[in-house]
Amino acid sequence: MASSTCAAAAAAVTIFASRLRLCSVRHSSVLLRFAGHRHPFSSSSAFSSSLPRRHFRHRHRMAHSAAATRAALGLTKPNVVEAPQITFSAKEIDFAEWKGDILAVAVSEKDMSKDSDSKFENSTLKRLDEQLGGLLAETSAEEDFTGKAGQSTILRLPGFGFKRIGLVGLGQHSQSATTSYRGIGEAVAAVAKGSQASNVAILLASASDISEESKLSAASAIASGIVLGVYEDNRFKSESKKAQLKAVDIIGLGSGPELNQKLKYASDVCSGVIFGKELVNAPANVLTPGVLAEEASKVASLYSDVFTATILDAEQCKELKMGSYLGVAAASSNPPHFIHLCYKPSSGDVKRKLAIVGKGLTFDSGGYNIKTGPGCMIELMKFDMGGSAAVFGAAKAIGQIKPPGVEIHFIVAACENMISGTGMRPGDILTASNGKTIEVNNTDAEGRLTLADALVYACNQGVEKVIDLATLTGACIVALGPNIAGFFTPSDELANEVSEASDVSGEKFWRMPLEESYWESMKSGVADMVNTGGRQGGAITAALFLKQFVDEKVQWMHIDMAGPVWNDKKRAATGFGVSTLVEWVLKNSS
Ligand code: BES
Ligand code: MN
Ligand code: ZN
Repeated sequence: MASSTCAAAAAAVTIFASRLRLCSVRHSSVLLRFAGHRHPFSSSSAFSSSLPRRHFRHRHRMAHSAAATRAALGLTKPNVVEAPQITFSAKEIDFAEWKGDILAVAVSEKDMSKDSDSKFENSTLKRLDEQLGGLLAETSAEEDFTGKAGQSTILRLPGFGFKRIGLVGLGQHSQSATTSYRGIGEAVAAVAKGSQASNVAILLASASDISEESKLSAASAIASGIVLGVYEDNRFKSESKKAQLKAVDIIGLGSGPELNQKLKYASDVCSGVIFGKELVNAPANVLTPGVLAEEASKVASLYSDVFTATILDAEQCKELKMGSYLGVAAASSNPPHFIHLCYKPSSGDVKRKLAIVGKGLTFDSGGYNIKTGPGCMIELMKFDMGGSAAVFGAAKAIGQIKPPGVEIHFIVAACENMISGTGMRPGDILTASNGKTIEVNNTDAEGRLTLADALVYACNQGVEKVIDLATLTGACIVALGPNIAGFFTPSDELANEVSEASDVSGEKFWRMPLEESYWESMKSGVADMVNTGGRQGGAITAALFLKQFVDEKVQWMHIDMAGPVWNDKKRAATGFGVSTLVEWVLKNSS
């Protein structure tokens, strides 16, 4: 999700204040390291001999080594960038005792209110201001810092225990708590970057007003914001700066095993989000369908206690009669890879079976209906595997969290939509693996063709619920704008589950209608259906098309994430979908 940037560095002011006496630091600290992710595309092949072989059913021929494909085009190899390692410590100490680079205080607009003597009403700010001889009140007024979300200001304090103090705005409570606290974390990361801090402490001015439960969630959302804020994908830059931030103390939001567990969970989800971002950011000459399959296999081998991986090549997909998927793949010299990871807890009964299916177009040129003209975004179509990135990002997080009682199938029919003499033509008729025939009236509506066979395959796994995620239609961006995904489902139960999951994750979704009367425009004179209706209601007709390939006994949801996959301002992937999927899986675990 797009987030506001803060002008921390620009707003920095240098103030020389009188010396502050500090007591020695007493604290009950919980040390927790945010384990960095293993860097994608850098380590050797997932098929190394150290793997526990029996967990793998690679019926995959390695003649077309992904590494060979990678070297073939443009000589680009992602740099091995060290994973950010930040140690989070939850401390119940008096902030005045803290020593380090930056003491960051999160304040709401309400916290900034002053009494008739122009003193802060908030007790934390009042005390801090007294200790700083009134500097806090003075500078916040000069800098016009009012506590709005995204605002931040920093003062340098030579001679104090903390070298700098930062104020970061929480805003009002109009947005979700997760979004606000994550924003605080991102702002702290920006402030830390701006002043090259290696350790910071963070506290909430009104921590005393929130419940114990909310404190835990606030701490973990702040931690996530910091990790994701510090992270920069520099793998394709010839030179890059290393992140300086090493240690974060979270003050006054509790400590102990419960918080510890929350922080571990946040760290696991963040590593999945970062993995998802890196998959999307990687260009199509680096991330081919074969490399995507390799990356998915690496996730399975890293958590081989709970995952098995099956990769099907074109020949095997043909045996399964996946004519719809293979039609899309036909023009590319990078062969398709059908990817299936299966998660099973290593002990205990399985009570629920789920499938998560992602659109995995490593590039979408449009095919013969080539993407042309301004606004077609052909140069961004590396992001057309954003659904699959959400799927494998979630798989990576799940591999670490290891939820009990749930079996999950992660499924992606990966390929490229290109143009060549072997490619499908507009007007061709394809036959999907459920026997239905499709007249391709537009080769650029390719995502649904790949998802058709992936959904049939998913329903054959004996699952109760299937969610698919896809950068499916420009129409959905027109309907909901860039930051909100549309979801479509006949099941109110599934709609509620995902809505609740998104309340926790902070990702934005809006339910869209599966208007059956619009199916009229999808009728073909010669086949069972065409693959595109008219321009009107394009996201809806796409969803109705997918529904043709879902078993009626299975609860199904389609998520169109064409908008939120990419952050235009940051010119980078968002990792959208990962955190909501993980929350949803946990709701279904026991
Ligand atoms: N991958 C695109 C959808 C897309 C477009 C995502 C722009 C993000 C930004 C998809 O394959 C596509 O081309 N859809 C067509 C469908 C049309 C031909 C019915 C579209 O949206 O234009
Ligand atoms: Mn397309
Ligand atoms: Zn596409």
